[in-house]
Amino acid sequence: MKFPNDFVFGGATAAYQCEGETRTHGKGKVAWDDFLAAQGRLSGDPASDFYHQYPVDLDLCRKFHIKAIRISIAWSRIFPEGTGSINQEGVDFYHRVFQECHKNGVEPYVTLHHFDTPDTLHKAGDFLNKDTVEAYAAYAKFCFEEYHQEVKYWFTFNEVWPVATNQYIEGTFPPGIKYDIPKAILSMHYMMLAHAKAVLAFKEGGYPGQIGVIHSLETKYPYEDNEEDRLAAKKEDILANQFVLDATFLGTYTDETLAVIRDLAALNGGDFNPDPADLAIMKKAASMIDYLGMNHYQSHFIKSYDGENDIFHNGTGEKGTNRFRLKGIGERMFKEGIETTDWDWLIYPQGMYDMIMRIKKQYPMYKAIYITENGMGYKDTFEDGFIDDTPRCDYINKHLKVLKQAIADGAHVKGYFVWSLMDVFSWSNGYNKRYGLFYVDFETQKRYPKCSAYYYKMVIDRKDVIE
Ligand code: NOJ
Repeated sequence: MKFPNDFVFGGATAAYQCEGETRTHGKGKVAWDDFLAAQGRLSGDPASDFYHQYPVDLDLCRKFHIKAIRISIAWSRIFPEGTGSINQEGVDFYHRVFQECHKNGVEPYVTLHHFDTPDTLHKAGDFLNKDTVEAYAAYAKFCFEEYHQEVKYWFTFNEVWPVATNQYIEGTFPPGIKYDIPKAILSMHYMMLAHAKAVLAFKEGGYPGQIGVIHSLETKYPYEDNEEDRLAAKKEDILANQFVLDATFLGTYTDETLAVIRDLAALNGGDFNPDPADLAIMKKAASMIDYLGMNHYQSHFIKSYDGENDIFHNGTGEKGTNRFRLKGIGERMFKEGIETTDWDWLIYPQGMYDMIMRIKKQYPMYKAIYITENGMGYKDTFEDGFIDDTPRCDYINKHLKVLKQAIADGAHVKGYFVWSLMDVFSWSNGYNKRYGLFYVDFETQKRYPKCSAYYYKMVIDRKDVIE
């Protein structure tokens, strides 16, 4: 069996990670600008200079037969303050990008929020403040109205759980708060409410096209086959996966989800009581969404853990140094026989297969899944004009293999996007963690195809992996 003829093979990007020009052309500030400046380590400028290089990147897509691209709109390029006055230069920029996509036969799949809440709204509480929900819904509506002739495929949010955990539990995203689980829960809930409002605006507005939301789904397995580790894995799954999946497909939270979430909130001095009126909106939207976007990179093996919260990330890619232990949940473990990337991410394609089949079983109302991101962070080397990223080709090939299996086993998977199309800025690691099919020389902004770009073109042409 090969991939179906209409299976979409794409490459993914995100505004803040590739555009550059973060404070020019009328763009408003986002929380990242000050957060990164304060650390003095990294900057979103010039990133991959997509603001100017998009014709080059789209031409590469055409040449390498990549017929779809994930792009995100930077909210603060359209509404510099998040609400209110519009920056026409930003509005026009995305028209140019979408037109260039179509000129090259590349379908844009557009995300409305990819980690970049405008700073004014961030300072007022980000998605802990319900005003942000309203501001987001108005921004989404504006985009549907403005771009509906150029964009057919929309995603409301990119990765609701990672945004919340990085902002309030791991502290790696602005505002950099650690171990505040109640805040993470509330902000996920409000993002899902904002998602629902955007879905309703889209469907009730009668715009052509389809809409969904993207979640980062990492399968949680018990480290050892015992009661304690099974419970630990279950709790982490509910917090990181099931909470947002319930919100997406049911528009409410099951008793099982609520019980664990409330326990975790209470253990950390909080509570969670969603407003029934909000749940009614989410329920309506859940019945209307067209697809789920699933980002998948890694799985976790969880051991029960009684100690204090303890999270540590080594941004430089030193193997074996990262820790993730949460009180009342568990500890993420390495597992013998399972290799990791340089950033300690476990390479376990079976996790992708298991997650897809779990969605099919647990949420039988799902209509379609797109793998909206999958790829490997790697320290690429450029030698004699040649970038040998065989491990990345191998990583992609392994994941495409299990995807084919999931389709053969009846899952409705419609497409796959490699993260990332070209090398981009990495939120916590800057420019030393590369993911692209195309190497970017960040000094000259020249692009060079890596081995993986040729490998991917072969897969697209054959509609099949290397067995
Ligand atoms: C998921 C995010 O959507 C993207 O922004 C990020 O760079 C990749 N994961 C790699 O970490």
